[in-house]
Amino acid sequence: MDVSTAPRGNAVFRLVKTVSDAFAFPLKASHYIELVNPLWADHTLQARIEKVWDETSTARTLTLRPGGNWRSFKPGQHLRVGIPIGGRHFTRTYSISSATEPMDGCFTITVKAIPNGFVSNHIVRQLKVGDYIPIGIPQGDFYLPDAQPVRPLFITAGSGITPIMSMLSTLDKEERFPDACHIHYAPHAQDVIFSKALTALENKYNRYHLSRVFTREVGADLNAPVSTHHHFSEAQLMSLCPDWRERDVYACGPQSLLDALEAFWDQQGLRRQLHTERFRATLATSSQPGQAGRVSFSKSGTVVDSDGTTNLLRIAEDNGLNPEHGCRMGICHGCDAKLVEGCVRDLRTNALLSEAGQVIQICVCASVGDATIDV
Ligand code: FES
Repeated sequence: MDVSTAPRGNAVFRLVKTVSDAFAFPLKASHYIELVNPLWADHTLQARIEKVWDETSTARTLTLRPGGNWRSFKPGQHLRVGIPIGGRHFTRTYSISSATEPMDGCFTITVKAIPNGFVSNHIVRQLKVGDYIPIGIPQGDFYLPDAQPVRPLFITAGSGITPIMSMLSTLDKEERFPDACHIHYAPHAQDVIFSKALTALENKYNRYHLSRVFTREVGADLNAPVSTHHHFSEAQLMSLCPDWRERDVYACGPQSLLDALEAFWDQQGLRRQLHTERFRATLATSSQPGQAGRVSFSKSGTVVDSDGTTNLLRIAEDNGLNPEHGCRMGICHGCDAKLVEGCVRDLRTNALLSEAGQVIQICVCASVGDATIDV
């Protein structure tokens, strides 16, 4: 029997569970079941790491077997992953990188260890087969339509290829691979995540046109200044995908690339054809410098300095607090907290929020002068 499957739909099971919950009060039977097998618990959703392998020297794919509360996903969607480190709980969002409807019930995420990225480095270097990690359910509206996509153009950079890999693998698995153009940016050839899988698709379909664009000179250090010579431009697009105007575009990558794509497709009046996935909030530019002050986190009694530009979630974490959070980019409201007094600025819009008792998203708000937050 698949260990992640419990007979949840069964009426007898439900009755037994109701009775067991009564005996387990104030906990639930699920808390005890979790001790036997975390994948059987239904008060939480966890996944067991079944396999790990290195895609590049800094990117690793984890194959995850989710618990019974899991639901199917669409190619391109992401999920929240909880990472316990040293008694603290961190949450990050990662795209699913595998095809939908897997036979073995598993899916994959692919994580790139970013320089000084405490959590991503922990995932890539420390997690191992047999570990259990909390996960969320699949989310997001960046996915392929159910209908056959009309001649897509994929534009990806770095680990932004992960949701697109899920799309490509699904199209391949479902034997409906379309005429697809794909421009992928990476510093060097050895940094291309899924390089072998992409080559296999190129060999299988002559209607899959992949252009790998390397943004650094051979032998150049990753910390050396970047030349923008190989970055996205209209001329480059025309040469790599001359019929781009007729294609629906799915793009994922760093903010600078997505900003450039949005500006270009906007300018061309074709913005509706461009679908992007961002993993950072788009922050507004401000002509005013941040107003430094003191931030009080009232529940914990912690009082710290703020530069008026760093988001409150980051300040809390840097000072040893562990506030609830999810996406870290202003979408999920997992970090909602009350403003007790003072003023904060929403970094996405520059809107000032100063009503006492108002709920704010601390991942995208910075204090303006002194502020007290109910964290
Ligand atoms: S963590 Fe998702 S909105 Fe702040």
